[in-house]
Amino acid sequence: MAKRTIVSLPGDGIGKNVLEETIRVLDAAGFDAEYVEGDIGWEFWRSEGNPLPQRTIDLLEKHKVALFGAITSKPKDAAFEELAPGLQEKGLVYSSPIVGLRQHFGLDICLRPCKSYIGNPLNFVKRGVGDVIDEPAVDVAIFRQNTEGLYGGVEWSDPPEKVYDALMTHPKFVKNFGDTPKEEISVSTRIFTKKATERILRAAFDHAKKYGYKSVTVCEKPNVIRETSGMMYKMAQQIQKEEYPNIELWNTNIDAQMMWLTKNPETYGVIVAGNMFGDIVSDGFAGLIGGLGFACSAQFNPDSGVAVFEPTHGSAPKYADYEISIVNPIAMIESACMMLDFINENGIAAKIRKAVAEVISEGKVRTYDMMKMSGRADVVEKGAASTTQMADAVIAKL
Ligand code: IPM
Ligand code: MN
Repeated sequence: MAKRTIVSLPGDGIGKNVLEETIRVLDAAGFDAEYVEGDIGWEFWRSEGNPLPQRTIDLLEKHKVALFGAITSKPKDAAFEELAPGLQEKGLVYSSPIVGLRQHFGLDICLRPCKSYIGNPLNFVKRGVGDVIDEPAVDVAIFRQNTEGLYGGVEWSDPPEKVYDALMTHPKFVKNFGDTPKEEISVSTRIFTKKATERILRAAFDHAKKYGYKSVTVCEKPNVIRETSGMMYKMAQQIQKEEYPNIELWNTNIDAQMMWLTKNPETYGVIVAGNMFGDIVSDGFAGLIGGLGFACSAQFNPDSGVAVFEPTHGSAPKYADYEISIVNPIAMIESACMMLDFINENGIAAKIRKAVAEVISEGKVRTYDMMKMSGRADVVEKGAASTTQMADAVIAKL
């Protein structure tokens, strides 16, 4: 069979380091692929006023599957100031290229698994019955609707007349905001469609069925956000009743869920949420399994097969200047395993996951985060593994 082509999108900062090391691991595991690099991120915003150039979109259109490192996003003013001379007069507005990719390709399904590794010193612990120290085994799969809701981009400050007039047709708007001058109003919309809501719910239930999770929890806020959250929960009830009677449907509010994170995280299986609450709850669970060094994700469009796999951490710009890269590559390696699963290379994925698990449980090679050090340039001197050494350790197990 022809070699598989994977688009590599290193992006900014330490995204480059973790991606490079991950490709070494993939090679060592026997994944036969060619990597073509796509331009994305801050560098391209500064130099060409577009962090997601069309050529990168074309590349992904052609090859479908990408590994993504990380990107840097800065606030509006900083984004403007850093633009190359000649671009500043063009009225360009920075927007996150990863959100851009999600929108452009309709990558509406985002899966973020959070599963604790045995022996990870960063695993969440709590005091249990009789004051024993309890280390609950977390194994959740979070499904985040990835294109709609608060990320739909439909928002205004000082909204146009027509929008304002439409808002004024709502009695609650008149009552609560009717006295506020239009110029003093900012509006961000939270739009849910039935189609996308059904797709994310089905993806969650299918996953629960396929991997034997006993429950699907809708994590929203239907008691207050009645229309959108309410619609999602109602649709979940119907889908569960008609198609997945053997899987329990639970309903939690996002705020309560964040509290239960530290009370009974082991209770949850599959969690499904809209875009923003999915963003929040996935960071929450990631914290229980070691934080950003361990949080991986997949985002895909099941119809077109376009898929982007990325660690959920950022680009950590200040670490990018260190002579030796110190960041933990496991989240990126795990994201690559999700990619392998997606393209039916499950055998190689399992091999890599086993190697990672062995390195962690052995505990001889640990990056600075796993040693609870703060991320300074001298951590390797002090005994922490570098990004490369961690990848080497995984490769040695392969
Ligand atoms: C994530 C990140 C992104 C998001 C940012 C970088 C735009 O937090 O992937 O979770 O908010 O979705
Ligand atoms: Mn996030």
